[in-house]
Amino acid sequence: MRVLGIETSCDETAASVVEDGRRLLSNVVASSLDLHAQYGGVVPEIAARSHIEAVIPVIDKALKQAASDSAGSWDDIDAIAVTQGAGLSGSLLIGVLTARTLAITKRKPLYGVNHVEGHLYANFLTQTTLPGYILPSSQPVFPILGLIVSGGHSQLVLLRDHFDYTLLGQTQDDAIGEAFDKVGKLLGLPYPGGISVSRIAEHGDSFKFRLPKAKMTGVRQDVLTLRTQKTNLTGDESVDSGTRSQRPKPYRHSYDFSFSGIKTAVLRLAQEQIGEDFTFPSTGLAARLNEQQKADIAASFQRVAIETVVDKTVLAYEEFRPAGVIIGGGVASSLVLRQALAERLPCPVEYTDPKLCTDNGAMIAALGCFSHLLGQPQADPYSLDIAPNLSM
Ligand code: KG4
Ligand code: ZN
Repeated sequence: MRVLGIETSCDETAASVVEDGRRLLSNVVASSLDLHAQYGGVVPEIAARSHIEAVIPVIDKALKQAASDSAGSWDDIDAIAVTQGAGLSGSLLIGVLTARTLAITKRKPLYGVNHVEGHLYANFLTQTTLPGYILPSSQPVFPILGLIVSGGHSQLVLLRDHFDYTLLGQTQDDAIGEAFDKVGKLLGLPYPGGISVSRIAEHGDSFKFRLPKAKMTGVRQDVLTLRTQKTNLTGDESVDSGTRSQRPKPYRHSYDFSFSGIKTAVLRLAQEQIGEDFTFPSTGLAARLNEQQKADIAASFQRVAIETVVDKTVLAYEEFRPAGVIIGGGVASSLVLRQALAERLPCPVEYTDPKLCTDNGAMIAALGCFSHLLGQPQADPYSLDIAPNLSM
């Protein structure tokens, strides 16, 4: 069973063919990143225009790469999956309209899938004939704790099974990758800042500066419901069973994140380092900071931002005792994050090749495979609409 996945939610035009939800047969990504770099962020209109130009050649290439006879035949494709949301409206529209047209003309079932869910499904790809990929050796086992950390998303999800999950928490403002990108911009580093910040952080002292970790309150209703039902998924321990001494400890914390505070704290710290007050413009900071100051700021920021998501992941692990933890999204390629999770969690932590952490069509095709295999509702190719604010 082979699914073609199409992804156009942001600045990457991507397509891929995945077999049986585990075998990566092709993965083609055309990014308009270079066009956005000069503006220091993604410009929606430029992204949409680039998708129009790239989408058909990218799909053609993905089909050809997957076909054994190099003809790129549609006969081998059983279904099409496309990112329906979340993402930029103009970008999503190009992918969805292309997928709808192909589903009608090639007579294939169509699935509109969630981009954020897709990031987690990149971890289900365990085999490939393509060179240069290091994939997990086996598929994740449920129940799974999923951490999505990207330029647009920061979410913590408890997955009991395919298509059966609870959103434990998410960012209330900026995504973690967005915070990395903004700190990168402030330090005058190339866009996207995530990789640039992590590179210079290697030469800095991560304990040089104290930066704040946001303390979140309000707990999501779904989490409260889970808390009253069960605290231990694998042990099946009921909160109100047993004597007082046997009772699991009461959990009260929130799993939501916030990264706007640390971003402002980095700005104030940089102003302080050059002896200026809060009125000094952020655009003038990079020229006045020396290389060591930049490296120390980058390292201190990276440590606290990563600790913020790791702390919550460890708390969620302790509360729900999943069989394993999986991470997805661009920031999942951070070695500091991978290492911190592996050190602090007693369970397997799965992540995939960095090429499958950032936006790609393979994660959409993998999720599409499970949608098709497990009888999820098909989309109507005459009416499937985009969902820019789709939540998990
Ligand atoms: O998943 P992705 O391609 O896009 C969204 O769906 O948002 O993630 C891109 C994000 C960017 O913010 C980039 O700066 C960040 O991932 N990123 C990193 C690293 N590599 C990419 N952040 C921190 N450390 C890295 N090594
Ligand atoms: Zn993404």
